[in-house]
Formats: sequence, structure tokens, C-alpha cells
Amino acid sequence: MRLSDNIKCSLVSWITKISIWKFFLLLLAVSFVIFLVQSVLPVFSDSHDLHRLAGEELALNGRGKIPSCVSCHGLQGQGDAKIASPRLAGLHPSYIKKQLEDYARDPLKTRAFVEPIARDYVKTPRTYGDLTVFTPGTRYDPKMNGLAKLLSAEDRHNLAIYYSKLAFVASPKAYDFETLERGEDLALRGKPEYGLPSCDSCHGPGGQGFGAIFPPLAGQPVTYIIAQINKWQAGKRDNDHLALMRNIADQLTDGDKVNVAAYYDNLSYSVNSE
Ligand code: HEC
Ligand code: HEC
Repeated sequence: MRLSDNIKCSLVSWITKISIWKFFLLLLAVSFVIFLVQSVLPVFSDSHDLHRLAGEELALNGRGKIPSCVSCHGLQGQGDAKIASPRLAGLHPSYIKKQLEDYARDPLKTRAFVEPIARDYVKTPRTYGDLTVFTPGTRYDPKMNGLAKLLSAEDRHNLAIYYSKLAFVASPKAYDFETLERGEDLALRGKPEYGLPSCDSCHGPGGQGFGAIFPPLAGQPVTYIIAQINKWQAGKRDNDHLALMRNIADQLTDGDKVNVAAYYDNLSYSVNSE
């Protein structure tokens, strides 16, 4: 008898020794284990998901001196109007990463000043790259500056991936008709008589954001939108490409800020959700 016949023989006799239903149970158990391994493997083999999970861990629990992000940005990254903290859920990952770099940038290295940043924009130093002029910007904020300096490049990457994938559904707030109408006029038409373009022409239709450069305005807390425009006007935020946003902010009145922020707070909007 050949060796393979031997193996066949012993397998048949083994199967007949244990009853058929036990054999089926065994098959069931084996397929269950295969199913488990298959469903768990992709989580660990996809590096993108590894970054997201590491970002989630840092966002929810902090690490060492780094506080958790959820304490100020909300459990779903929805922001907090009470402390003018922005929504992070669903923002473009490159935008999030850039903001964290800008908060962390040592102003001395870029020869720009954090407070006050030179009011005369012509004096702000520029870096010239291929076909682009990039301003190495800074963002002054007592809460975020110190925190951002503690983050490594990998932390920033992980947090950016985590927050960009979070779902967000806006809960539109009610405002009086006149405020909304004025806000809408600015958002959709701008002030052509003064050469001021509409907000949506850069921030995308419905203020939903456009790529990595133009962040969404829809779904951002009213207090946050107003605070940011104030910071540009005061020279405390100086990190927009080509001063695109600074030139807009400089032309807005206090009334404009309130109206346009209310308009965006009144819009229905969702991202990453079905
Ligand atoms: C103590 C409260 C607090 C904590 C903790 C905090 N933030 Fe912030 N964050 C803020 C506030 C307030 C702002 C708005 C600051 C400004 O005016 O520039 C902000 C702004 C930001 C922005 C800019 C968003 C935009 O739309 O431009 C990013 C990105 C950000 N935070 C990420 C994080 C991450 C990631 C963590 C956790 C590692 C974190 N924050 C922890 C309060 C906080
Ligand atoms: C010419 C293009 C342009 C127009 C028009 C424009 N913006 Fe912006 N805005 C930008 C850019 C670019 C940024 C991002 C700056 C950065 O990289 O930090 C920005 C950022 C902002 C932010 C900060 C968002 C955040 O998450 O931190 C607010 C608030 C804002 N714009 C409000 C407005 C309003 C209100 C209008 C209309 C009155 C408007 N913008 C029109 C280019 C524009």
C-alpha cells in the first residue's frame, strides 16, 4: 500500500469513528474561526485605519501633557459655540494638518510676530516656491498654541485622518428674517460695488468648503466665525494663502460678521453621513 492510500484510509476510519454530527460541528467551528480572522485582519493591515485609530485614541484620551481634544471640540468633533471652538469633523485632512502646524510654528523662525503680527501686510515675510507664493503663517490662540507644540508630525497626521473621517450633521438654528437675508446677500453675492467677492465663491456652494485650501463655513459655530474674522482684522491670524482671507476680513463690518455667521448657522448640511 502506498503512503497516500495509507493517509486516505486513516482519515476515513477517523471520520467513521466520530459521529457525523460531531464532524459537522468541527467544520462549523473551523469556518467560524476563518470568518473571525478575515473580519479582523483588514483593520490591522490597512495603515490608513491604523492612523485613524491612533488619532482617535489621542483625540479621546490625550497623552501625557496633551489634553484630549474632545474636552473642547466635542465628543463628535462638532465644536462648541460657548468657547468659540470650531467643528473639526469632516474638515479636509490637509487643512487640519496645516492649522496644527501654523499654531505650533515658532514665530521667531519665520521672522513674523505672533502678537501683534505686522499690521502692514507688505511687511509680512514671504517664501517663494515654484509658481506659488506661500506665506509661512501663524495663528495666535492661547489654548491651541501650547498644545500644538506638543504634537509630533505623526500625531498631526493621525488626528487629521481621524477628524476628516468623522460624520457631521448640522443642526440649523433660527434667526430673524432680516439677519438671514443680509447674511445670504453677502454669502452669495458679496459687495460687488466694493470689489468684495461672495463668500461662497471661495468657500464653495453652500459654504461647504472646497479642497484643502478653503475650509467649510456651514456647520461652524457663529461665535467661531466671528472670532476668526476679528482675529484677521486684529492681525492675530496670518496664515491664509496669498492673504486671500485677510483681504476679505478687512472689508467686513461688525454687522456683516453677525449676519453672515447667522446665515451659515441656519443652513442644513451634513458630511460623511448617509
Ligand atoms: C482647551 C480647549 C481646547 C483643546 C483641549 C483643544 N482645542 Fe483645538 N481649538 C480650541 C479653540 C478655542 C480653537 C479656536 C482657536 C482660534 O481662535 O484660533 C481651536 C482650534 C482648532 C483647530 C483649527 C480648526 C479650523 O477650522 O481652523 C484645530 C485643527 C484644532 N483646534 C485641533 C485640535 C486638536 C487635534 C486637539 C487635541 C489634540 C485640540 N484642538 C484640543 C480649543 C481647544
Ligand atoms: C478669495 C477667497 C475667499 C473669500 C471670497 C472668502 N474667504 Fe474665507 N477663507 C479663505 C481662505 C483661503 C481661508 C483659509 C485660511 C487658512 O488657510 O487658514 C478662509 C478661512 C475663513 C474662515 C476660518 C475658517 C476656519 O475653519 O478656521 C472664516 C470664518 C472665513 N474664511 C469666513 C469668510 C466669510 C464670512 C467670507 C465672506 C464674507 C469669506 N470667508 C470669503 C478665502 C476666502
